Amino acid sequence: MKRIMITGALGQIGTELTMKLREIYGTDNVLATDLRRPEEGSAILAGPFEELDVTDAERMDQIAAEFKPDTLMHMAALLSATAEKNPVFAWNLNMGGLLNALEVARKYQLQFFTPSSIGAFGPNTPKDNTPQTTIQRPTTMYGVNKVSGELLCDYYFHRFGVDTRGVRFPGLISHVKEPGGGTTDYAVEIYFKAVREGKYTSYIGKDTFMDMMFMDDAIDAIIKLMEAPAENLKDRNAFNVTAMSIDPEMVAASIRKHMPDFELDYDVDPVRQAIAESWPNSIDASEAKAQWGFSPKFDLDTMTEEMLEAIKKK
Ligand code: SER
Repeated sequence: MKRIMITGALGQIGTELTMKLREIYGTDNVLATDLRRPEEGSAILAGPFEELDVTDAERMDQIAAEFKPDTLMHMAALLSATAEKNPVFAWNLNMGGLLNALEVARKYQLQFFTPSSIGAFGPNTPKDNTPQTTIQRPTTMYGVNKVSGELLCDYYFHRFGVDTRGVRFPGLISHVKEPGGGTTDYAVEIYFKAVREGKYTSYIGKDTFMDMMFMDDAIDAIIKLMEAPAENLKDRNAFNVTAMSIDPEMVAASIRKHMPDFELDYDVDPVRQAIAESWPNSIDASEAKAQWGFSPKFDLDTMTEEMLEAIKKK
């Protein structure tokens, strides 16, 4: 039986992760925490919830001491575009929060998960079929945070024996909670705009390829990696995972199979476009497949179907 504490539980990943973990391990065994309490009636409040600013080490420790989890999933972080607007704040939140969480995991001997990202790669990383172990010289604050985080998690494993585990997520696409401040967000917005307005203006340019994955597959990947027998893992952190490499035109073509009149045009945002161009076109997830059986179920067309259906129902 697992008892799990989550930070950033109201974020894009945290929201669905919390619900799924409660389904599997029991509502009372999954503590959601976030900066602010959600509105009354929110599904997250069906189980335990605490307000937590992850830069407050003492409060994080106190909550863990009271809840007595065996696992900590640290999801609270700023995404790439927001981090670029306020790099010092991003460093303090992303790195300070992670260090506090790792310290709690060390003190209470908790299994630990935190996500890295395709943002951990940079312009001189091989662009296609990017290997898991390769050049990492990111040019964004978010990327600097993610590489540092990967190293820090490895360090806590080797130095203190903390069971740290992590993946490099691509852009994650979901209809439950919209992301905020990411470079890959266009691939979520495009579905909402398709249903609501029949057209979308993309801030990411034509022919700009990035890796993406449907949220259900992302949540499954977290659970699978956390349950994988330790002896199967040659690596602990920074597993490449992805389900597809796509550009805006491909998403539009997939949407048009259901909505033939859907229109896509472009108004490229230079900041987010530059970030996208510094990231790989497609990453190689073979280590995740070999070491813990990563196997995403959704491709572009099955994801499009799910997204359009779900958004129409809202
Ligand atoms: N989705 C993230 C972002 O765009 C990438 O990890 O910032």
